[in-house]
Amino acid sequence: MNALTRDLVKLVETAEQSQKTREELSVSDRKFREKLHLMPPVGWLNDPNGLCQFQGIYHAFFQYSPFNAEGGVKMWGHYTSKDMIKWEYQGTALYPDQPFDCHGVYSGSAFIEDGKMYLYYTGNVKLDGEYDYIRTGREGNTVLVITEDGKTFGKKKELMRNSDYPDDLTCHVRDPKVWKENGTYYMVQGARTNEDVGQVLVFESEDKVNWKFRNRVESEKPFGYMWECPDYFKIGDKKLLSTSVQGLEGGIWEDRNVYQSGYFEIEGDILGEYKLSEYHLWDYGFDYYAPQSFETEDGRRIHISWMGMPDCEEYSNPTIQTGWQHCFTFPREIFEKDGKICQRPIRELEEKKHLVSDVKGMLVREGYPVYEMTISDITKNRFKVILSEKLILDYADGKFRMHFTDQDKTSVSSGRSMRYVEVEEVENLKILADTSSVEVFVNDGEYVFSTRYYPEVYKLQAEAVGAQITLSEIM
Ligand code: FRU
Repeated sequence: MNALTRDLVKLVETAEQSQKTREELSVSDRKFREKLHLMPPVGWLNDPNGLCQFQGIYHAFFQYSPFNAEGGVKMWGHYTSKDMIKWEYQGTALYPDQPFDCHGVYSGSAFIEDGKMYLYYTGNVKLDGEYDYIRTGREGNTVLVITEDGKTFGKKKELMRNSDYPDDLTCHVRDPKVWKENGTYYMVQGARTNEDVGQVLVFESEDKVNWKFRNRVESEKPFGYMWECPDYFKIGDKKLLSTSVQGLEGGIWEDRNVYQSGYFEIEGDILGEYKLSEYHLWDYGFDYYAPQSFETEDGRRIHISWMGMPDCEEYSNPTIQTGWQHCFTFPREIFEKDGKICQRPIRELEEKKHLVSDVKGMLVREGYPVYEMTISDITKNRFKVILSEKLILDYADGKFRMHFTDQDKTSVSSGRSMRYVEVEEVENLKILADTSSVEVFVNDGEYVFSTRYYPEVYKLQAEAVGAQITLSEIM
């Protein structure tokens, strides 16, 4: 441990301790803390990193800036869990303490083999000087760290620098995700070309340490200027390339978030000839970016995302005033239904549910901050849900809509307005609500909408003629 690491360890602990004390002393400073959703002990959280199940235990690392709730130099915070519901904080795993990662231990992934966890990440460096930090002045180094017990992390090893990437790229290359197929290791990274086109780079390796560039994946026509946090996996026979895209403008994108997270289905081979499908959004809500997947030991594909949005001026999060910001989405299982890729909350949640109501047509309840509500057998799109008097889920003009009645930054929405998807028929809804977040699964999770919200009262009203409505409290 060098002198910088030693000081950072102390400073992070001090910041976390002072937030703890602050929240013990003040109810209003802790009122929007999440119960089910992973959030930072103090300060800022963004992307999930290094998600894995290792020796039976789930690990979730996160982009962490403990000293500033509005973001700062990134490190990897670390949580572990036995069930992906109750998470225990393990402290900071990786600090920005080397010349090749001194301005941020950026996003990356975990690969498990031979009883070891291999963590690959991007070491971010911003040089001092007159640079645009796109074409000049920035390093995106690929770094490896190994742990044998999931607690102590070995020496960082720099594997690749910008000069090892294709030379028609800007300095923006990052977010390695690694997997193994037919005895060979593969890595995808997100990139921005000199022509401002987003791409995914594919590298391969025989030993997990020495990597060589193999291919690049891009859409036929340019689609955004940067593809971040790529991920590649199979669901049934489908091959999915997931990526978070910056720079989509005009048309349908005008009604959506500043940046998008979605996937392409791949026909062919990402190592050779391939064709990308249209881009499907993982989530249509306000707060969703940079998801990452991993496979559990029992073979499920789990997806967790940052429930937040960067560079977004129109809405905000009042928790900044209480010392923290952002959380993850609740872990979701990805599955295929009738040829469609769908998502649902992990099945571990079932054990935590306690049925409160099971009624037909209408339900009104108050005083449940953490719950799951389902509405099934909806007919003719006749339903309306109102949460905390201000957040509405309904159907109009061929669209399922999630919208807030009030866009004031001091209201429940904190400035959020409307998100929608065009869909012919809404058959069922599942709503997973936590203290300050709502995730809505439409038609068995064919479409998902995630948003933060900041209620003063926890009231829910649901109306759906002839439909079955259940409410379960989550304890
Ligand atoms: C996505 C992202 C990644 C990067 C990280 C830095 O939100 O921009 O591309 O590695 O966040 O925190």
